[in-house]
Order: sequence, then C-alpha cells, then structure tokens
Amino acid sequence: MTTRGSWGTRLGFILAAVGSAVGLGNLWRFPWMAADNGGSAFLVVYLAVIVLVGVPGLLAELVIGRRSNRSPVGALVSLADSDRWRAPGLLAVGTAVLLLSFYAVVGGWTLRYFLTSATGAYFAEPGAYFSGASSGLDAFAFALAFLALTGFVVYRGVDAGIERASKVMMPAILVLLVALAAWALTLPGAGAGVSFYLAFDLATLRANAFDILPAAAGQALFTLSLGCGTMLTYASYLSEDRSLPADATAIAVLNTLVGVLAGLVVFPLLFALGDGAGAGGPGAVFVSIAAAFATLPYGQVLGVVFFGVVLLAALSSSISMLEIPVAYLVEEREHSRHTAVAGLLSLFAVTSGVCAFFPAIFAFVSGTLVDLLLTTGLVGFLLFVGWVLGKDAVDEFRTGAGDFAGRLATPWLYAVAVVLPVFLLFTLVTGVLGALGVTVADVALGGVTVSGTTQLVGVAVLLALTAYATLRRPGSAV
Ligand code: PHE
Repeated sequence: MTTRGSWGTRLGFILAAVGSAVGLGNLWRFPWMAADNGGSAFLVVYLAVIVLVGVPGLLAELVIGRRSNRSPVGALVSLADSDRWRAPGLLAVGTAVLLLSFYAVVGGWTLRYFLTSATGAYFAEPGAYFSGASSGLDAFAFALAFLALTGFVVYRGVDAGIERASKVMMPAILVLLVALAAWALTLPGAGAGVSFYLAFDLATLRANAFDILPAAAGQALFTLSLGCGTMLTYASYLSEDRSLPADATAIAVLNTLVGVLAGLVVFPLLFALGDGAGAGGPGAVFVSIAAAFATLPYGQVLGVVFFGVVLLAALSSSISMLEIPVAYLVEEREHSRHTAVAGLLSLFAVTSGVCAFFPAIFAFVSGTLVDLLLTTGLVGFLLFVGWVLGKDAVDEFRTGAGDFAGRLATPWLYAVAVVLPVFLLFTLVTGVLGALGVTVADVALGGVTVSGTTQLVGVAVLLALTAYATLRRPGSAV
C-alpha cells in the first residue's frame, strides 16, 4: 500500500476543508434555492439546520476520519470490523462521483464566463448566451477543461496539491468577495435585495416551514460538504490531535460567512437591475447577474472578478469531490494516485457529458437527487458514530478538545445517535414524497386526528429503530 498523504499544517487542513465547503453551493445553488423557497424564510431554516445538524454532523465525519485514518469505505469497514458497512461507504463514494458529474458542468459554465467576461461576449443577450452555453457540446467542452484543472491539483497530492492550492484560493476568494459586496451594496435598488435576503419574514416561514425543510436541510448538507465522506476523508489526513470541535466550528463559521457575503453580492445585483429573485433557477447567476454586468460601468472587469471568484470556489470544492474516489482507489484498490486520477477523469468525461447534453437529467441530479443522497449518506455516518463507535467516538471527540468542548461529547453522541437521524429521515421521507407529488392526509384514529406530519415523524422513528436493530454493534455505548 502507498503511504498516505497528510496535511502540512493545521491551517492547511482548515483552509482545504473551508475550500470544500465554500463553492457553487454558496454562490450558485443557494440563491437559486432561496429564491424558490421564500428568500429570508429559507435563510432562517437553513441557518438553524447548519447549527443544529450541520456542525454535529460535520463533527461525526471528522471523528470517523481521524479515528480511522482511512477514506469512507475503509474507515467504516475497519472501525466496525465488519463488511456490513461496506455498502454505506460505497454509497458515499458513489454520491461523490454523481456530484462531480454535474458540478463539472456548472464549473465549466463558470470557466467560460470567467474567460469571456473580458470581451463582454454575453453582454448583448445574456439569456440567449446562457441557453447556448448551458448544455450541449460547448458545455461539455468547458466541463472537460474544468475537470482537467481539478485533476491537475488532485494529481499532485494532499499537501503539494490540495493544501497548497487552498492556501492561495481561499484568501483570494475572501478578499474579492468583500470588495464585490461593498460595491454591490452601493448600487441603487440594492436595498430591496438585502431585505428579500435578510428581512425576517415570519408569515412565510410559518406558512411554508415544512415545504422549506427538505430543501433547506439538503442545502445545508450540500454547502458543508456533508454526507458523501469529503470531510471524513480530509480529516483522515490529520496527523496531530487537535481540537475537532474547534475545527468544525471554524469551518462552519467561515463557510456561513462566505455564504452570507455571497448573498450580499448576488441579491443586491438581482434586485438592483430589476429582475428580482424571481429570476431564480439554475441560471440565476449566469443570466441575471451576467445581465447586470452588461449595464454597469466597468462591467467587463466586474465580470472577470466575479466569475473568477466563483471559479476558484468551484475548483476548491470539485477538488474535494474528486479526492474521495481517488482515495478509495488508492487505498482499497491499490492503484497509484496517478492512475486513479487518470481513470476517474475518463469516467467523468462520460458522466459529466450526460449532464451536459441532457438538461433534464442535470436538473434532477443537481437538485432533488443530491439532496436525498447526501441526507441518506449523513444518516449512515451518524448511525455509525452513535451505534457502532459509541464510546470510542466520545474518546476521539475529546482528544485534543479541552475541558469545555469535552463536556459536550456525550450530549453530542446522543444527538448524533438518536435525534439527528430521526430529523434527517423525516426530511428524507418528506422530500421523497414531495418529489413524487404525494401528500399525506390526516387520519382519524379512534377519534383522534393524526396529522400528516405526525405520521411522517412516526415513519422516521420506525426507520431509525429498524436501522438501529440491524446496525447496532453489541456492546456499543448507545
Ligand atoms: N460544499 C460544496 C459547495 O458548496 C459542494 C460539495 C458537496 C463539495 C459535497 C464536496 C462534497 O459548493
């Protein structure tokens, strides 16, 4: 077996993990999801899920990764000492492959817009330009170029490739975004965008909380890169014992900060130039924002900077997606990193081609399917930590964590074992039914009306119990 890579410094790990988290999820998927789901109401639910589910879930992945020093499949199988855990590991690797297949297409759009902003190619007819660029041969060609850039960094390895690239990309993203937000907020009409985004809108929230929940939960997992083993894999390259709770908090805070900053660039632009958030959908950034640059002084320069930021963010995330199947092939299949990268790039040439040529498949994969798979994957990791690792997880959590954070370990374990899986299974069932267009009617049971929501919570509890009965390791703590 080849020697495993490892991070050179703690900052390197945090920047790489933040790089994974900050991506198209913040700059492209978030405005689209928020516009579709009620703006600030979506933001509230999403932030709540980040704090209550995202951070503990992130910690679960970090704990598995550092404890095992392996990538998802090997980590679960070796820690459980059972082959039964191979399937959830493989699901994570498969999800990462699917993610990168569509992500490369959007990455390709970004690369194209970055390059063509300088000449203002899309200025005359942003809508028509995007239709031409978003699917078909052109989209495919740019997706391949984007994949090649991603492959180049991953090929160079953990510290010489991923860490070094992250140390340049992340500070650049932050500085440029602050500058862009400062400028966007001065545009006339920007205020409407800010209030759509930040005004606390209780009425919409109350009326739609259950419809918003699956999308908000999916988006929260997506933006923190949870559920497909990215954070697990990155934590497996940690060699010293530092505080995982501190790292998880830093990652979530920085990611949220960039997300909010991105919103302060995107929404003022969308509103200042008249389209409003109604121009949502996958094209929001590429049509409405691109149109904004066309009408502004120095639009070309702004376009290059804006799409440059989006491109850097997309790359630092796609790198982390590619690293998962690469780590799997290197560790479990004993390929060299170089063959693994080359082989996977050929696979992605096909799968991203499918996404580039078939917009309907693209929309399904990048929206609903990803939400559902990441949620399923994270449930798997949480159940694993709660019911297989048990006390070992508490030990790993405490190692390097200090007294204060250490005291949170046991409550965290119970949340991870019981509360969060039930919650996520609930959003999963709601999401699947929503995608199928099924609504659950209230039923009367012996004179008592049981609401649809209560029935769904019941189903989630049953699913969790079934999982518990099949997966629990005898003697585990919970
Ligand atoms: N978090 C990344 C983004 O916001 C997407 C991602 C998901 C990356 C899962 C890795 C794994 O764009």
